Amino acid sequence: MKDKYTQQELNGILANTSQRQGWDFSSMKTWRAPVDWDYLEEVKKYLNPSSSVLDIGTGGGERFIQLSNIFKNGLGVDIDPKMIDIARQNAHAVDNVEFIVSSEKLARIEKDFDLILNRHAPFNLTAIFNHLKPGGYFITQQVGENNMQNVKKALNQKHENPTITKNEILKNGLSIVSFQEYDVEYVVKDIESLIFWLKALDMLHADIATNKAIDNVEILNAILKGNVDEGGFVTNEHRYLVIAEN
Ligand SMILES: C[S@@+](CC[C@H](N)C(=O)[O-])C[C@H]1O[C@@H](n2cnc3c(N)ncnc32)[C@H](O)[C@@H]1O
Repeated sequence: MKDKYTQQELNGILANTSQRQGWDFSSMKTWRAPVDWDYLEEVKKYLNPSSSVLDIGTGGGERFIQLSNIFKNGLGVDIDPKMIDIARQNAHAVDNVEFIVSSEKLARIEKDFDLILNRHAPFNLTAIFNHLKPGGYFITQQVGENNMQNVKKALNQKHENPTITKNEILKNGLSIVSFQEYDVEYVVKDIESLIFWLKALDMLHADIATNKAIDNVEILNAILKGNVDEGGFVTNEHRYLVIAEN
């Protein structure tokens, strides 16, 4: 990957960049330093064949559906009706998972759940507390405030407060089973993957809006400057994994 492009080169790459479908980034060529946990493996430890499970901000249900063979029934919610359409298509062969449009406030959801999941999406701890069965668990993986630090810096995006804290969990009546965090190197190996990624991130679906900015080569070059080595574009991945119990 070069560290500087012309507008013409960028236009050519953009013309061949496919649109993100749901929340599927599997086409990207990336490398990440080793991390302390795998989200799906952690969630599996809390599932059994009688579990009823809610996934808040499910996107296209890509990860939730992968768990469906180890729980009894699941409900995925998302504020974006387009995501819910994609999730229903992705789940066409699965009969124990439903998807409906709902915000993180969970209004009109009357059931309580054994497990509530929330990966990289907004959450409301009062609503979660009110929809967890006694002894039920809440598992969230959150994108940390320091994620993609060099991209945020190039876009002048302000430093934010922590995306989740122990205090707010305790204040909402839940107890903490574990609270983990990592911040590691993340490399995007080629320019096509990088453009696909930055095109896919907007404020409704992520914590950074690069989708429009990336049409301008000056912004792309500002993002690349000083951040490209022989492996590709180097940035960082910051995550929290929090498990709480009602
Ligand atoms: C980063 S995606 C994560 C999708 C999925 N959880 C995953 O990990 O693959 C965030 C999702 O949260 C949804 N979302 C954004 N704001 C929301 C809100 N206030 N209530 C519910 N869902 C929301 C977006 O539409 C998007 O699908």
